[in-house]
Order: sequence, then structure tokens, then C-alpha cells
Amino acid sequence: MRHEVRILVFLTHVTHILCYDWSSLNLVESHVPYVFANNLELTSQCKADEACPYRDILSNETVCWGFEKNCDAEKRFGGKSPTVDCDDVSKDRYWHQADFGYLRDQLNELDETKVCDSPNESSLHCTKFGSMCRARKCYLDLRDVNDGQSVVREGGIGGFCKLDANMRSKVTEVKRSLSTWGEQLQHYTQLNFNPWSNTSKYCDVIVDKPMLFVQLDFGGNMYHHFCDFFNIYLTQMANNSWFGTDVQIVRWDLSYRYGEVFRESWDAFTNRDHVSLREYMGKRVCIADAMFSFLPRTILGLFYNTPVEVNCRGSSLFKAFSEHFLHRMGITSHPPTSLPNQPNKIRVTLLERGSNPRYKIYRRILNVDELGNAIRKIPGLEVNVVEYDWRKMSFKDQLSMTHNSDIMIGMHGAGLTHFLFLPPWAVAFELYNCGDIRCYRDLPRLRGVRYITWEDDSKLEAFDQNEHPHYGNQPKFWNYKFDVPEFVRLVLKARSWVLEHDRFSHLRHDEL
Ligand SMILES: *[C@@H]1O[C@H](CO)[C@@H](O)[C@H](O)[C@H]1NC(C)=O
Ligand SMILES: *[C@@H]1O[C@H](CO)[C@@H](O)[C@H](O)[C@H]1NC(C)=O
Ligand SMILES: *[C@@H]1O[C@H](CO)[C@@H](O)[C@H](O)[C@H]1NC(C)=O
Ligand SMILES: *[C@@H]1O[C@H](CO)[C@@H](O)[C@H](O)[C@H]1NC(C)=O
Repeated sequence: MRHEVRILVFLTHVTHILCYDWSSLNLVESHVPYVFANNLELTSQCKADEACPYRDILSNETVCWGFEKNCDAEKRFGGKSPTVDCDDVSKDRYWHQADFGYLRDQLNELDETKVCDSPNESSLHCTKFGSMCRARKCYLDLRDVNDGQSVVREGGIGGFCKLDANMRSKVTEVKRSLSTWGEQLQHYTQLNFNPWSNTSKYCDVIVDKPMLFVQLDFGGNMYHHFCDFFNIYLTQMANNSWFGTDVQIVRWDLSYRYGEVFRESWDAFTNRDHVSLREYMGKRVCIADAMFSFLPRTILGLFYNTPVEVNCRGSSLFKAFSEHFLHRMGITSHPPTSLPNQPNKIRVTLLERGSNPRYKIYRRILNVDELGNAIRKIPGLEVNVVEYDWRKMSFKDQLSMTHNSDIMIGMHGAGLTHFLFLPPWAVAFELYNCGDIRCYRDLPRLRGVRYITWEDDSKLEAFDQNEHPHYGNQPKFWNYKFDVPEFVRLVLKARSWVLEHDRFSHLRHDEL
């Protein structure tokens, strides 16, 4: 009799295992072992389930992204030395500035900084300066909140846990929107009742799905908005590298809507629309598991103004982000990246800037046709002159074009954020940086691709200076013509770098 019962229990267990929808993981294949290594329950489910497509990938060898405790350098994603071009001391510094070492440092802080903590009940842990937090069994009381009133007040947010008021002051000391959660969490309160003891009494809404709070930067600009997306990815990475999309993203404000032009990008992170706190106005909300995302303007944060060792190139964290994002967007390489699929041309994409008649566009390349025609004469190059305008070309089509470019050329501007999605052998060519040197030099180099820009200012000509009513004296608000032979010389240099990659070994003879 007892025996029978055991078998029954076992079978129920198996049925449960078989139900897991493995396709919902939707991961880059090479990332799978790293995600599983951080989610051991999932690993054992997979090993026990014949239908799990990842069984062959899960070797016995333990791997790790790099942020995990006890993660040996040899086992890291991207290997021991993802960075190139720099010495060992700089490499190590770079790893802490812009690679998984950065996340490791942040997670160490999160472990130590317990604002409120009661095992099995509520908790709030944050990084030292509140750039990211994690809350369990979090209680939001938005009953008295209306348009005129602040969400942030005593009792507005809290948990049934032991509060460390000193720690709370320390963590929330810096109150700067888009940089810290100090403003929002300064009044986190120790509740004298446990909402989970009787949710029908204490909660109007129970959220048992994971919730991710964000403060978003400007959604109309690719550079700024991708700083949001990168930091959301970083937050998911921080949470056991769990990239499930069954997550509710909540903007911490009361706005009706958020204006943005890269809407499709959210598909990489969530299968729901993001909402603001307005969604819960007038209610008491009990949230089982919440993260307060890394923010786009975190001081010494990642992506926006990240200070980096200038001689190093290639962060495996940025590589992981780029691969993950492209995968979730369904963007692929043509031909596939694996050998022996070798392309017969080097593809050059030259970005033209705005012909939108509604407003005057600056940083235009006035002789773009001349430049395009000149490099079309170089044997083995396929040249496309395009305008990345969402009105004419969907964002996914733009991404696909970028990812299938070997050399991408464009003027300083947010569109160059596309450099993050170039293939690893590509060259990013910022035609002219208008004196703003770092922005689009650092981004592609973080991703690991090579970068060049205009070298000789005497070989370009500025037009329409002092035309802009406010910023007429700034080079970013002028238009330009470029010297053709000098342009060809730089493109040939970029081409020679691309040819160094194995994918193009068969084209090298043309070089001579
Ligand atoms: C894992 O280890 C087991 C036992 O040590 C061995 O039989 C198996 O072949 C290993 N699998 C892989 C993928 O290395
Ligand atoms: C938390 O829950 C676990 C498992 O239910 C239990 O063993 C443990 O004693 C609890 N801890 C506290 C502090 O209540
Ligand atoms: C929970 O609260 C409701 C409403 O106040 C009450 O009717 C019910 O008895 C409570 N349940 C428990 C288990 O305390
Ligand atoms: C964090 O990761 C776990 C899996 O490791 C997942 O179950 C949970 O929902 C995630 N939490 C958030 C807030 O994303």
C-alpha cells in the first residue's frame, strides 16, 4: 500500500516536470549553460525531462558568467581575457568598470546592505547608494495617492520586517531621479501588521508575478533608451540571470503613457505592456518579488558615461547583452556565422541623416552621394546608403541591416547606438564626432568591435554654422562635406581590419 502511494507521488512529480515549456526560455544557445548554472532547480528539471532540448548542452563542467561568487576566471563567459588591446592591470580594472566584475561588486553591496530584513517575511536589500534594490513581500499603499500627491510618503511603501533605520538613511541619502532609488525608498516603513497573514484583509491587489520597477530615460532617443534596456538586462542578470518574460514592468511615476519609438525592444524583456503606478492608484498592492532596476543615470553606472580604460576593448557583459537582445528580436546573420559559410562581399552601411522636412536636421553629410559612389569603386565592397528612420524602416529591419553590416559609417548621433549590434568582426566608423569624442567611441569598443573616426579636421568643411538659433556655435549643429580621397583611405583601413577575421580569409588576396 505504502509502496503504491510513493509511485503515485513520483508520477505526479514527473507530470509536473513534463509540463515545463522549455521554448519559453528563449535563450541564445551559448548562454544556456550559464543561465542553468544559476538556476539549479531548472537544471535538475531539465536533466530529468526527456523533452528538455538543452540536455546535451548541460555538461558536467560548471560554468559561470563572472559575477557569481567563486567563479574562476577560466570559467567565465567570454573566457579569462575577454578584453583585448590592453595590459593585465588595465584589464582587471576594466573588468570591474564595465564587465561582470562590475556586477559582482554591486551584488556584494546588495548582500551587505539590508535595509529591512526578516527571514521568511519581507525584506529590502539595496546596493550601497541605492542604484538597485530587491524587495520581497513588498507592500505599496496607494490609497491616498492622486495626481496632486506624491507616491512617496511615510507608510506608502514597506514590509513586515525589521527595519534598520540607519541603513535606510545611508542607502537613500542620494536622492536623484534616474540615478538612485533614494527618493522613492526614503520612507520605506516597518509595518506593524503582516499583509501576507491575511491578504483578503490587507491587499486589494496581489502580484505574485515578478515585478520590475524602472525609471526611464528619454524614449525618443536610441542612445538614452538603450541605456534603459541595458540596465534592465543588467538587473535581470543580477537576479540569477533569470530572463523570463513573465514579468510586470512598472514605471515609478503616475504618467498615463510613455512616449517612445523603440517599442518592439520591450519584447526582449517582458511579454506585457509596461505600466506606471497609476495602474494601482487607490489600492493596496502586495508584491511577492520586486526588483528596483539599475538606473540609466547611475553615478559611475554602465552605458551612460561609463568611465573605461581607454586602451581596452571587449566587455563580455556587453557581448551577452547584444547577443541576447538580437536573439530575442529574431535577428540573424546572413550567411550564418559558422564556417564554412563565407560571404563574398564586405558589406558597408553608410547612414544618411534625416530628410524629415518638419524640422531642420543638422550633422548632415552634404556630399553623401559622392562618398557612397567613391567607395562603390573599391572591389569587394557592397555599399548601402540608408536612412534609419522609423517612419520608413521598422526598428527590427534596421537592426537586421546593422547586424549584417561589416563596416558601419555614420555621423555622431544617437543612431550610432546601433554599433552595439554589429557583428563582432565589424568596424564602427563614426565619420565625424563633432568634438564629442567618447560617446560613440566607447560604446562599440565595450561591445568589442573596432572603431575609427575622421582623423584630419583640415579635410572636412563645415556648413550652416551659426544657423541654429540657440546652438549655432556648436559643431553638432552644423553640416559637413568630407574630402573624398581621405574618406576612401579610412574605409580601406576599416576594410583591412575586417579582412583579418577568418570569415573573410578567402577575400584577402584582393587586398594586394
Ligand atoms: C557527466 O558525468 C557523468 C558521470 O561522471 C558521465 O557519465 C557523463 O558522460 C558526463 N556528461 C558529460 C556531458 O560530460
Ligand atoms: C523560515 O521557514 C523555514 C521553512 O519553512 C523554517 O525552517 C525556518 O525556521 C523559518 N525561519 C524563521 C526565522 O522563521
Ligand atoms: C481575514 O480578514 C477577513 C476580513 O477582515 C476576515 O473576515 C477573516 O476572518 C480573516 N481571516 C483570518 C484567517 O484571519
Ligand atoms: C528572479 O529569478 C527567479 C529565478 O531564479 C525568478 O523566479 C524570479 O521571478 C525573479 N524575480 C524577478 C523580480 O525578476
